Amino acid sequence: MRTTVGIVGAGPAGLLLARLLHNAGIDSVVLESRDRPYVEQRQRAGILEQGTVDVLRAAGVGARMDREGLPHDGIELRFDRRRHRVDFPALTGGRRVMVYAQTEVCKDLIAAQLADGGPLLFEAEALAVEGAETDRPRVRFRHGGREDVLDCDYVVGCDGFWGVARKAVPAALSRTYERTYPFGWLGILADVAPSHDELVYARGERGFALLSMRSPSVTRAYLQVPADTDAADWSDDGIWDELDRRLEVDDPHWRLARGPVTSKSVTPMRSYVHEPMRHGRLFLAGDAAHIVPPTGAKGLNLAVGDVVTFARALIARRDTGDATLLDTYSETCLRRVWQAERFSYAMTTMLHRAPDATAFDDKIQLARLDRLTSARAAETDLAEAYTGFPL
Ligand code: FAD
Ligand code: DHB
Repeated sequence: MRTTVGIVGAGPAGLLLARLLHNAGIDSVVLESRDRPYVEQRQRAGILEQGTVDVLRAAGVGARMDREGLPHDGIELRFDRRRHRVDFPALTGGRRVMVYAQTEVCKDLIAAQLADGGPLLFEAEALAVEGAETDRPRVRFRHGGREDVLDCDYVVGCDGFWGVARKAVPAALSRTYERTYPFGWLGILADVAPSHDELVYARGERGFALLSMRSPSVTRAYLQVPADTDAADWSDDGIWDELDRRLEVDDPHWRLARGPVTSKSVTPMRSYVHEPMRHGRLFLAGDAAHIVPPTGAKGLNLAVGDVVTFARALIARRDTGDATLLDTYSETCLRRVWQAERFSYAMTTMLHRAPDATAFDDKIQLARLDRLTSARAAETDLAEAYTGFPL
């Protein structure tokens, strides 16, 4: 098989890239190791930055998002039994975010690709990317019990943190930067209307809690738990009781609504960056190149930024013959990536309670929250980062 751009992985990065290239008249083939139901049902992110929303609309896959997504103009921070609202449009000149699940973004992109795009092969596992330094990189893959080769002009590794594409960058040229955290998130979906109309990020003595949503009738919530937690060890009542305790405030109107829990899972927390994000004709995008802890909801949005940058660069190369944007892909992406790393790290360390936290650490967290909620400059910094730096 032969194509212009071989895309490894059909998560949000690979699927959106295929759509952007298709819209520009550039052909691609997407290889995805899992089957379609798995990709469409994998529960992950839920918040789209303003820039991501704009990109999906411009790519022609925003119609259902605009009908069913929930635009949000702010978030609430809770600490010390207090509530503080951060007003995004007021602080950023009109920027906001959208609650629309990653599962739905992927469903919309898959439907569009299967309707009129290039090949999207499920259960096609990439085994290796070869010849990245040559003009003819290729992907070896297994599909339907047979091994095959996809010959390409460019390969984009969108195969997530556990994928194979990153391994094609020689170790001698790779630099990695990493931090793991001694806690994870226990995430639930529940069939009950969200208890608040905006997301609530809560810092407490017992740890972090986040109240989010998927629709007007479905609540999404997370609890900070020890890194080695098994979700099965938490009963539904135990989860609701703990959410209740961590979300407690001095407000007689606050009440947490409970309902049947329909899914439970634990997500580890990690910060990770692989540099460079390009080697020859192999480009890395999304989780294949970098991971952020979920606090602040940057993972999916960073993946979008990377593939938009690649698509723009390739279109410029085709239209003008100038490869400068392809040559600077890694630097361009990494600047944005490190801003998201900084923000996610700051949100994580401000809101979670480490197992070995001292009274001093607690005081510093509260001082950071006090600063954020009393100084417009600090609050503006959060609002700009949360709604997303321009692409
Ligand atoms: P992925 O979505 O990981 O997609 C990679 C794709 O490549 C997958 O479909 C995979 O099956 C495929 N693949 C892997 N190896 C191969 C191979 N060898 N051959 C072919 N295909 C392959 N972010 C948030 O902002 N908020 C959250 O709440 C949140 N929760 C998360 C929970 C979990 C468990 C995880 C893992 C991530 C979470 N994230 C969250 C991060 C966010 O979901 C990711 O940043 C986003 O999915 C990145 O998209 P991607 O396309 O780069 O990678
Ligand atoms: C969600 C996930 C996040 O990481 C976050 O910061 C906010 C919301 C969510 O899945 O709804």
